[in-house]
Amino acid sequence: MAGDSDLSRIGISLPENLLVKFDSIIDKRGYSSRSEGIRDAIRSYITYYEWMNDVSGERQGVITMVYDHDQRGLMEAITEIQHGNRGIVQSTIHSHVTDERCLEVILVRGDAKALKELAERLMALKGVESVKLTTIKIQ
Ligand code: NI
Repeated sequence: MAGDSDLSRIGISLPENLLVKFDSIIDKRGYSSRSEGIRDAIRSYITYYEWMNDVSGERQGVITMVYDHDQRGLMEAITEIQHGNRGIVQSTIHSHVTDERCLEVILVRGDAKALKELAERLMALKGVESVKLTTIKIQ
């Protein structure tokens, strides 16, 4: 496996607004370069996924999601997915953050694999800004 010292160069395309936000964060956090910020972001992404994959057994948790209120059909799709998973979705809190953004907190309980699948399905929807699954062990 290649260590962190073996650097590969990649080219990526990003929406302008995403890059502007990212640059403002790395500036506030004092990164010396954009590359350094991107390396750190990729490490966090990998850590989060590895953590998600380590989760197993019967769990209680919350899915926190932020999404675009104006994305056509998105609210209906989110509701449909939750209805389809009513065996594990216990309750939902919806907060209208701004005219354009919604925050939804979904209380879930069930097998870790099913909870992760639900989080990943929500994450894959167009117009969803972020999805985070946090769980605790039951007993
Ligand atoms: Ni809303």
